[in-house]
Amino acid sequence: MIALGCDHGGYELKQEIIAYLKKEGLEYKDFGCDSTAAVDYPVYAKLVAKSILDGECEKGILICGTGIGISITANKFPGIRAALCTDCFCAEATRLHNDANVLALGGRVVGPGLAVKIVETFLNTPFSNEERHKNRIRQIEE
Ligand code: RB5
Repeated sequence: MIALGCDHGGYELKQEIIAYLKKEGLEYKDFGCDSTAAVDYPVYAKLVAKSILDGECEKGILICGTGIGISITANKFPGIRAALCTDCFCAEATRLHNDANVLALGGRVVGPGLAVKIVETFLNTPFSNEERHKNRIRQIEE
């Protein structure tokens, strides 16, 4: 299950990502927001982070205008590794090296075509499981 969350700056891009997830038959839970009316991004970052830490969802996708505020908030939660990506190279690397469990996107930064490719890369790249990366991830939580 993939957790989705956004603020008003990410709402339109979230609709594109939902269309992609539906097309691929991937299960998701949308934690809001539900329109382009102004809201506070920390609310949605917290809902998505908690759903992952509770085990309800395995991964999350968070979108605000830049992706910055929403990823800063998510990363306050121990166990959440939110990666703000603007290209597929970073999306692949953050799965391989950081075992990122949240992808953050900027709805005012990346266009829908690129964003969907980033999502696809993020969801389809497994963690490398290499000891040096596991060791570094362990150190994040210390
Ligand atoms: C909202 O205007 C904007 O500040 C927000 O979407 C995000 O970019 C914050 O980091």
